[in-house]
Amino acid sequence: MKFSDSFLDEVRARLPVSQVVSRRVQLKRAGREWKGLSPFNKEKTPSFTVNDQKGFYHCFSSGRHGDIFRFVMETEGLSFPEAVERLAGEAGVPMPAPDPQYERTVKERLGLMDALEAAAKLFEEALRSGAGREALGYAEGRGLSRETIAEFRIGYAPGGRDALKTALLKKGFTEPQLLDAGLIIKPDDGRPTYDRFRNRLTIPILDAKSRVIAFGARALSPDAQPKYLNSPETRLFDKGSMVFNFARARASAFDKGELIVTEGYMDVIALHQAGFKNAVATLGTAFTARQMEQLWQLAPEPVICFDGDRAGEAAAARAVDRMLPVLREGHSFRFSFLPQGQDPDDLVRSAGPSAFSAYLKNAMPLIDMVWRREMRAGAIDTPERRAAFEARLEALLTEIENTRVREHYRRDIKNRLFELWRPQPRERKGDWSGTKGNRSGKRNGTTPPRREALPPPTAYGFGTIVTLALVNHPWLLDRFAEEIASVEVPDRKLAALLAAGSRAIFDEPSITRETLITTLRDGPHGPLLDRLFWESAYSRMAFLKPEAPREEVEDQFTEILYRWRALPTLTREIAENAESLADMSEAEFERFAVLQQEVASVGLKQDTDDAAMRDAKQRFEDTLARLKKSPLSKGRRRESRG
Ligand code: UTP
Ligand code: MN
Repeated sequence: MKFSDSFLDEVRARLPVSQVVSRRVQLKRAGREWKGLSPFNKEKTPSFTVNDQKGFYHCFSSGRHGDIFRFVMETEGLSFPEAVERLAGEAGVPMPAPDPQYERTVKERLGLMDALEAAAKLFEEALRSGAGREALGYAEGRGLSRETIAEFRIGYAPGGRDALKTALLKKGFTEPQLLDAGLIIKPDDGRPTYDRFRNRLTIPILDAKSRVIAFGARALSPDAQPKYLNSPETRLFDKGSMVFNFARARASAFDKGELIVTEGYMDVIALHQAGFKNAVATLGTAFTARQMEQLWQLAPEPVICFDGDRAGEAAAARAVDRMLPVLREGHSFRFSFLPQGQDPDDLVRSAGPSAFSAYLKNAMPLIDMVWRREMRAGAIDTPERRAAFEARLEALLTEIENTRVREHYRRDIKNRLFELWRPQPRERKGDWSGTKGNRSGKRNGTTPPRREALPPPTAYGFGTIVTLALVNHPWLLDRFAEEIASVEVPDRKLAALLAAGSRAIFDEPSITRETLITTLRDGPHGPLLDRLFWESAYSRMAFLKPEAPREEVEDQFTEILYRWRALPTLTREIAENAESLADMSEAEFERFAVLQQEVASVGLKQDTDDAAMRDAKQRFEDTLARLKKSPLSKGRRRESRG
């Protein structure tokens, strides 16, 4: 019951606060106000004041404050309507007649809910009856247990024209009610109404209080159209704010701090059965702001599951646009891409809960999605295209309405762009002998290698780099099959990981990075891979990053391979050359200097324990040491050459 303001004001006007209060508190005049001992706290000096002009009391000891209705509620434990009724009686103000409009709305809503609840019960019974045999078989064929069927209140809408309508009319519901509840359809041509759901498996959609407000109904045969038939929008069912399984998932999502968001009814149901009770679905609709708010009620960073195919990728890309405007501090979304053509239902049934868990764990943050999407939107191989790429990112940033989040996105994107635009080493496949006689140190007339752009010395061995490169860019295997196969990794565990990765890619050449990582993580090499990622040189070696453009990855990977393979030769050459330093021509010395730089810039600590390599390294060190001690300098050498 809603009371009008004018009615409440009338009661207030007739009953001064002091009059209502003085029944409990002894009041004394204090200027325009009244004072007394607080009825809420035990006290010796009065801190409770009443102001009849303003119509309220204020208690300085407890901070409580209110009008006559609140006073009665707080001191006598009455509800608001009860307090109103009591005081209206005292004031002699007749209670208003119930608002017929409001009463009617409440009654109607309850009537609709009753009809939907009754329908749900009838459907559940039908599934267990003879008529539901085929539907039950279908549900069980999809792996649903009796327990799950009962938990989700899955039922069967009988075939025929109006089985449900007849049953519900018999129970006293009216035809307009059934129409409003979306349970029956009224044909335009004036023929009688008929059941909306016929010969389908029914799944009730519940509101936050677990009351049935709509149905989704799946066809039993693969060629029946549509596959799913849903209730229309009704007074109870607003599709744009609907999150399927919200009420059931709440507790679990809250406990785990994690929420799984899928696209379909069956995904949620299968996940629930597989132990992921924190799953909901958006039922194939776009993400509305209201839906996102609901998801955030359950967890700060819901993980959205997409099919790993084109359509899934496109859906994720669309979702990004809807998410940016509503982001706020601490609230975001993550993205999980499942294997090609598989939804969560398929995946838990075919690969088991742990496989699904691995995908969840590997979910991609929204910022990475944004970056990846724009990277994939077009080439960035010319200044104009790079500028366009930057402009696209810039435009996306302005979509974020929350200033703080937007600023952090801006910073993150700025860093990524900085990494991306940093000078990268160009292809340098020539051989070093070409530098012979080149005074300026330039090689074959091309620009000298830019040392600062090369990977700096890192703690990562060659094997680690190859492994990370391969995991992040599985397509490398096809391009560099021989080279990768010939890489010798002395560390047994690392070698096994590299082999496992290569095999997985070999088995499925189009495997995505995400799938490959999940596969490896699931296996015995998971911990090592995680460690590599954790310690990874991403920030130093741009090409190891998953979003690095293919061309750059190819360039740099070639470079690294080249250097690695050249290393023993280089060290040997240096060692040999060092012996004849005194006899070097100037050109030879130039070349020697270049060689020395080459070796130094390989900069990769070796994983190797290989004796030959140790030997070569040792000789290199020795040569360097000897060089330092050597009395030869460029000037002196000139002299000696005369
Ligand atoms: P999908 O086509 O991905 O189906 O639709 P699904 O969930 O994998 O269903 P199964 O496994 O074949 O039974 C995803 C969601 O989109 C909505 C439904 O909510 C469905 O769960 N949808 C789909 C419809 O509303 N109508 C349709 O005809 C199809
Ligand atoms: Mn499915």
